[in-house]
Amino acid sequence: MHPLEQLRDEALREIAGAPDEKALEAARVKYLGKSGSISAWGEQMKSLGKEERPIVGQLLNEARNGVTAALEERAAKFRAQSESEALANIDISLPGTPHEIGSLHPLTQMLDRAIGIFRRMGFALADGPDIETEWHCFDALNTPPDHPARNEQDTFYLPDGRLLRTHTSTVQIRTMESAPPPIRVIAPGAAYRRDEVDATHSAQFHQIEGLYVDENVSVADLKGALEFFFHELLGPDTAVRFRPHYFPFTEPSFEIDVKSRALKSGEQWIEIAGSGMVHPAVFEEVNQARGDDTYDPEKWTGYAFGLGMDRLAMILFGIPDIRFFAQNDLRFLRQFA
Ligand code: DAH
Repeated sequence: MHPLEQLRDEALREIAGAPDEKALEAARVKYLGKSGSISAWGEQMKSLGKEERPIVGQLLNEARNGVTAALEERAAKFRAQSESEALANIDISLPGTPHEIGSLHPLTQMLDRAIGIFRRMGFALADGPDIETEWHCFDALNTPPDHPARNEQDTFYLPDGRLLRTHTSTVQIRTMESAPPPIRVIAPGAAYRRDEVDATHSAQFHQIEGLYVDENVSVADLKGALEFFFHELLGPDTAVRFRPHYFPFTEPSFEIDVKSRALKSGEQWIEIAGSGMVHPAVFEEVNQARGDDTYDPEKWTGYAFGLGMDRLAMILFGIPDIRFFAQNDLRFLRQFA
């Protein structure tokens, strides 16, 4: 037997008898390491004669391959062993990690209900950015520069002159800029004001804006649409009241109050929305931006409204403090799951 074969058999015996991974690694170093005894034969090859060299070369290959395979096999065995030991130590009587199922935020639930009703009435969803130009938020909506809403104390301005929109009425303008009449859209979204934060005021709140533009639209259409909406949302015995008011972008303008037994407020009138007939000056501003006279105020009329979603959710669910919506307290949120 060639000494290389003896060396190989010796290595295989040692590997087979290695009690653990450490012993196995020691065997690898001893035979196949840089200065291992099998590796040493590789060095020796150069000094061998022409005839001996191929024979030793083949034996060396066989020894290396055989020993490497044996090392791998034994290592795999150790791995499998430690895995099954780890599994054997698992206590299957321990409780698992629960996956909690979340639920929709009460404001989202409120929005979904309201949007569902308007969609059945044929309103499409419209959208616009929270960070707005002053023009979309005020000028285009016939709100003069000296209007108190434009005061720095009332609005969040960015250094570049843009602002966080104070109402979703901006989407009226964006919708008319990009599409001709007839228009029938609602725009749910966040609005921002620099209010002193308390139980009924928050720097961020939510509105649904509505805009309807067509030929021969009248206050009767506005009243009919919103009465239908509130009856669907709060029940058929809900009373709806239109109170004359002032908004720069509508003429005439109304505030809308509701009274319903479905509400925690009971027999009390609750102010819930602003509304009115789109002011001709708004159509003129849109025409100027579009560079045409698509929204000819002699031809088109429309109504618009803005609903406060936080307030609606508060009176519908009996939530006493608007700050609860943003505090992420599970004791609060779970009540609406
Ligand atoms: N933008 C008003 C607000 O935030 C609400 C409003 C009033 C919207 C009348 C309208 C409207 O579209 O016609 O207080």
